Amino acid sequence: MVEISLHVLDIVQNSIKAGASLVEIIIDENVADNLLTITVSDNGCGMDSEFLSDVTNPFRTTRTTRKVGLGISMFKSAAELTGGSFEIWSELGKGTGLRAAFVYDSIDRQPLGDMASTMSTVIHANPDIDYVYTHSYNHNTFEFDTREIRTVLGSEISLSQPEVLKWIENYIKNEIENICGGAI
Ligand SMILES: Nc1ncnc2c1ncn2[C@@H]1O[C@H](COP(=O)(O)OP(=O)(O)OP(=O)(O)O)[C@@H](O)[C@H]1O
Ligand SMILES: [Mg+2]
Repeated sequence: MVEISLHVLDIVQNSIKAGASLVEIIIDENVADNLLTITVSDNGCGMDSEFLSDVTNPFRTTRTTRKVGLGISMFKSAAELTGGSFEIWSELGKGTGLRAAFVYDSIDRQPLGDMASTMSTVIHANPDIDYVYTHSYNHNTFEFDTREIRTVLGSEISLSQPEVLKWIENYIKNEIENICGGAI
């Protein structure tokens, strides 16, 4: 995978397949600690402990179209390749969360990629699910919550409308630029 944002796209897809109604994505770029930490959590169907203990094995999948599931194992490998770490937790019927920590200045760290367009792609494909996107760069943070957008738009207007998606993408892009203060 060329960019971390593509892993995030895959991982959010898992949450959607798991029937989540709310997916939370936290990007934490901490240059002082030399870590880029990505956390994705959902309120989907979860996994039992036996499945969870082996989920980073590519042959653990509930896919029916092919025998391997690569999303989680590739995300884990990408983080570990930089000298970082990976953890996953889940509770059946409650939800799942995972966290990948990348060593920020590792030459093996993929670039974060375009999170604004990733979020707009995810919302476009699944406009009825709610997302909370939090991005921090050192101590600057912003949060984007689709539930707030829905309150403003009312129930008639879908988040998948092109004007809405464009607005969301631009908003996230500008906020990321603001918190990074020109560092990206
Ligand atoms: N958020 C989640 N909630 C519940 N189950 C999950 C979640 N994420 C993954 N799983 C389970 O773990 C399995 C492995 O996930 P993984 O992303 O590694 O592969 P996949 O989704 O099966 O295939 P691929 O990602 O290659 O399309 C999934 O098939 C699913 O059963
Ligand atoms: Mg997957």
